[in-house]
Amino acid sequence: MCGIFGYIGKQNCAPQLVINGLKSLEYRGYDSWGIAIQENQSLIIEKQVGKVSDAKIEHSTTPAHCAIGHTRWATHGGVETRNAHPHYSSDKSIAVIHNGIIENYNELKSDLVEKGYAFVSDTDTEVVPHLLHYYMQTGLSFIDSFLATCKALHGRFALVAIHKDENIVVTARNGSPVIIGVGDNEWFIASDISAFLEHTTLVNYLDDGQACICDGKTAIYIDITTGAEQVKRNVTIAIQKETVEKGEYAHYMLKEIMEQKVSIARAANQPEEEIRTIAQAIRNAKGTFIVGCGTAGKACMAAEYFFSVIAEHHVNFAPASEFTLYHHFLTSESLLIVVSQSGETADVLEAMNVAKSKGAKVLAIVNVEGSTIHREADYTLLINAGPEKAVASTKALTGQLAVLLSIAYALCDYPRDRRLTHSLHDAKVLLHATASQIAEMLNPRYIEHIQSVAKKIAQKTDMYIIGKSWNFPMALESAIKIQEVSYIHAEGFAGGELKHGPLALIEEGTPCIALLGNDEVTNDTVNNVREIKARGAFTIAIAPTNNEIFDVWIKVPDAGNAQAIVNILPIQILSYFLAIERGTNPDMPRNLAKSVTVK
Ligand code: M6R
Repeated sequence: MCGIFGYIGKQNCAPQLVINGLKSLEYRGYDSWGIAIQENQSLIIEKQVGKVSDAKIEHSTTPAHCAIGHTRWATHGGVETRNAHPHYSSDKSIAVIHNGIIENYNELKSDLVEKGYAFVSDTDTEVVPHLLHYYMQTGLSFIDSFLATCKALHGRFALVAIHKDENIVVTARNGSPVIIGVGDNEWFIASDISAFLEHTTLVNYLDDGQACICDGKTAIYIDITTGAEQVKRNVTIAIQKETVEKGEYAHYMLKEIMEQKVSIARAANQPEEEIRTIAQAIRNAKGTFIVGCGTAGKACMAAEYFFSVIAEHHVNFAPASEFTLYHHFLTSESLLIVVSQSGETADVLEAMNVAKSKGAKVLAIVNVEGSTIHREADYTLLINAGPEKAVASTKALTGQLAVLLSIAYALCDYPRDRRLTHSLHDAKVLLHATASQIAEMLNPRYIEHIQSVAKKIAQKTDMYIIGKSWNFPMALESAIKIQEVSYIHAEGFAGGELKHGPLALIEEGTPCIALLGNDEVTNDTVNNVREIKARGAFTIAIAPTNNEIFDVWIKVPDAGNAQAIVNILPIQILSYFLAIERGTNPDMPRNLAKSVTVK
């Protein structure tokens, strides 16, 4: 949510280097963008509403070596140029970019207004340049003013600031990601590694409560509270530049769907010892909760079924945003499992904080290594899906499901329970078979068939999706996928719930999608399809076996306990083509951003 980028060093960064960095961060927000470039002891500031990828930059600048840039997802204040970042002091000596929310901005603003500062935006961020300016007026240096400003802020923030006369970039973090890219006499500051991957793979992750001062030759890390310098080691990351680019694909979403040919097998290849340790921790815990948001939340909900059906073990699912209300049930013997692609989702972090405050342990299942959630959890498992840039989560979901299934199987091994017939070894066999099934499904004929289904239903206004058992959370996930990329009104239901209300929504020709497997609940869902067909619905089944009541059959292999993984794949492809048919950009749905770092 909001992408921040800063540069200082030997290259001319005005403005293409900054714009290129922002383009790779655009998935974090694309309402508006802006840059500030230090040039001849002044700051050139340019801001525009719209996507940076559509940017028309009118002025050309002389070479500059220090600049910042921002791509915005609006929180405080509408999508207007004056609310776009960078925000600057009234004399334009200081420019600031920010990701996060400054919770005490109202008090700070009143105070600054009283001191004579004039505000031009509706943002929380604008207090920062004014406060910095105020401290400098009291005689503090730019660096000390920046540290004093950070101390005065409450809330989550990632900040970067420059001053027209100072050959430094300063940055600080409290809850929102800041990664420093270390080049050869040059430094990059960004919300995400992809913004500078073409320049360097040597990085340093800023910690909460930490600031960094880069002058193009060195970077100094400082504890914001004490002002003490801190020694931090740079690490080399293994991500390849190609993995964060679209390559031959029209959209990241399609690329990431196709990458499931290999990503599921990677997720299934978890270190056995770690999975067993985690299974043991789950068995020993007096109460296990599992939380995530959106698509990751649906993976958690599916896990509730995996753990119950496969391992006869109960875990409590809650959307992360609701979890804090459960705090009464947490003790030091509880375990919280959090699932997040980005590892930065604010609601998930808040759930972790609540659990930790009660002494509970946290297991994090994440995709982004080095993310806040990854670094703050007691136990971690990486799904290894590779960078996911499309707002619509696809390969991360199937990776999460694969890891959660592995844990469910491992639970059968600990303690070895005679009634439970499965083992971790079975999970490996199952998931490798599933990975091959997925690779086979992703062939041109299969994709064209789904595209033809999308053409048939793309102009409909409402769609419903049903399922039972783990196909129920997948029905909810199907609705998210269709809603977010095509803007069609879609809702998921437990098939058995239809007759309790939603059946009234079915009209002649309403598309209804049923998710089925070959299992003990299949007949129930087939009967639900009969009920909706009898009311005139256009029925689409995603199922291993055909039935005369299906108007359209999208065949999926029988994947046993991994059916959720194969069933969601056609939905991802369908959603993608619904977006294409309706002319929306599946990578950048309106009003959304990839990484939701605000509550
Ligand atoms: O990064 P996270 O997995 O924590 O993100 C959670 C949700 O914001 C995310 O899954 C969202 O629902 C997706 N856009 C859905 O495709």
